[in-house]
Order: sequence, then structure tokens, then C-alpha cells
Amino acid sequence: MKPLDRLVIRRPDDWHVHLRDGAMLEAVLSATARVFARAVVMPNLRPPITTVEAARGYRQRIESLLPENNGFTPLMTAYLTDDLDPGEVERGFFEGVFAAAKLYPANATTNSAAGVSDLVLIAPLLERMEAIKMPLLIHGEVTDPDVDVFDREAVFIERHLIPLRERHPELRIVLEHITTEDAVDYVSDCDELLAATITPHHLHLNRNSMFVGGLKSDFYCLPVVKRECHRRALVKAATSGLPCFFLGTDSAPHPRSGKESACGCAGIFNAMHAIESYAAVFDQEGALDRLEGFASEFGPRFYGLPLNTEKVTLLRQPQIVPHLLNLPEGGIEGLDPGEVPVHFHSGETLAWSLESV
Ligand code: NCD
Ligand code: ZN
Repeated sequence: MKPLDRLVIRRPDDWHVHLRDGAMLEAVLSATARVFARAVVMPNLRPPITTVEAARGYRQRIESLLPENNGFTPLMTAYLTDDLDPGEVERGFFEGVFAAAKLYPANATTNSAAGVSDLVLIAPLLERMEAIKMPLLIHGEVTDPDVDVFDREAVFIERHLIPLRERHPELRIVLEHITTEDAVDYVSDCDELLAATITPHHLHLNRNSMFVGGLKSDFYCLPVVKRECHRRALVKAATSGLPCFFLGTDSAPHPRSGKESACGCAGIFNAMHAIESYAAVFDQEGALDRLEGFASEFGPRFYGLPLNTEKVTLLRQPQIVPHLLNLPEGGIEGLDPGEVPVHFHSGETLAWSLESV
């Protein structure tokens, strides 16, 4: 059979992205808004987004940078801390500002120092979220320095997620950016109240990729990429057609000096070629017919939001991914051109391209 060379799907959404703020936001926003209709915007700014007012302000800064009638909707999140008032989170949800709340275990990743130190401390807040059906998004890694960095997700599931779901059986949870077979198995076995997002980079990279020919800081992210058997399990999950697995890029741009340093930041900037990157994986698996469910249908269903009606078209047309994000003519004030983020897949050829509209 002739391979498909044109794929039309419902416009996708990104259920986990870091858009940053200020000059970096201005530089990276269009990479997400060019293809995704909605994106769940992570709240780990400095200071983090912990109030309805801060989220409104951030949403406005994002919207003010979008061209007229762009059709992109940022979905804001609340950053949970030990002492966040449940009333504030609930108000944000009912006023249509917070789409979800984000749980960072304290010190698990970039800008998470103010995260939650013990889940039991926020039990009243979680009960409130359970009652109002507000999704909880979890960075699922323990921070215990005695736990090997490659085991932190699996240990989080055992030590924290299973007991949490027993204490709050009605809570809607997204286990974010899963990286292990353990997470795939656990989420597949659970009911429709638990889902997981999967990033493009965790579908393409295993832990060897970080060390081939030298230390590749561009491939360092959290949770860190794992063994090949885990990558295979993620590919199987993403292309399975199971509605509990859906798209979340975790695109996380950092200035180059933050990545290329003796103590480099975690995060991969994949927004610009994300849908093409996912398409490559689905294509390799002979599962292009399942891309639409993963990218455009299972996420909104979990969040109880309408499906997008517009379409996007992918063409089997090779493109070479440039090294750095291109800035507009004249640059962006406050962003040194030497500090723009490096694209995921930099220098590689992707077999699919997005048809420009
Ligand atoms: C994210 C960031 O840079 O904000 N980094 C990452 O490696 N994914 C934080 C996060 O999602 O863990
Ligand atoms: Zn993230």
C-alpha cells in the first residue's frame, strides 16, 4: 500500500507547556500558538503563579503578544504550595482562570522550591479540588536524595500516587510527562480519573542519547530520559489509542547560557516542531491513524472541554530542523540573540511538515 503523504487532523492542543515570561515568552509563544489551539501553561515562574490575580495578569501578557484572531487560548494553572488557600484555587476555577492546579514536589525541578513538601499538608485543598472536579497535574518524582535519579518516578507512584488516590478516590489526576514503563502500566490499569501526558522527547530519546560523543545538555530534562525499554513502553502507550495517554510537550526553553553551563538547567525546547516530531513516531509505528486521538481528542475529553473544530494538515515533506529559534527582524528587547533556545531535533531531518495556513 502506498504510504500516506497527507494527514488532516483536528487542530491539536498541548496539555503541558512552559511559555515563560517577558522576552522569552515573546520569543517562544508563536511556536506553540502556530499549531496548538489551547495549551495548559505551567505556573513555575519566578515568583510562581499562586493567585487568581497573578494568573489573570500572566494570561493577559500572553494574550497581548498574540496576533489578532490567532485563535490560541492559554489555559492557566495554579502552583500549589503547602499553605495555598483552597478558596483561592476554587475561585480561580469557577471564574474560568485556573483550568487545573499543578503539584511540584518541593525542589523536584526548575523553580519548584516553593512546591509542596508533604501531600498530607494539602489534604483540605485536594478534597476541595475533588469536590469541584478540578484536575490535579502532578510532577511525579520523589526528591529524596537517597533515591536514584532514574528511579524517582517509579518510587513516586508507589510512595505517593497510590496512597494519594486512596485518600482522594474522586480526584482527577494527570501524571505529567511520564518516562517509565512503571508509569505506563500503572496509568493503563487505572480508571478514567487518571491520565498521563507524554512528551516528544521521551518518545525519541533514551538515556544513552545524553552521552553519545560527549555530554549533551540539550537532551537533559526532568524527569530525566530513561532506558530504551522505557522509551519503547512510552511509544507503545502513545500509539495505543488508549484515551488515558495524550499530548503534552513539556516544551521548556532556557537561555543557552543556562543549558550550556557547568550546572545546566533541565528542559528541552520542542514547541516549534512538536506535532511533526510526534508524527514521526506514529509513522514509524504504522499508527498515523491514531495521532488525532492522542493529539486532539483525548486531552479535551479528560478536561471536559469541547473538541477543536478547525483542522491542520501534515505533509510528508522533509524539513531540516534549524539549530536555534529564529527571532523576528530587529530581535527582541531583553533577549540576547546568543541566548535563544536550541530546537529539539536540531540538525535532524523530520519527514513531516505542517502545511502553512
Ligand atoms: C521544566 C522547566 O524548565 O520549567 N523543566 C523540565 O526539564 N521539564 C520543569 C518541569 O516540567 O519539570
Ligand atoms: Zn514541565
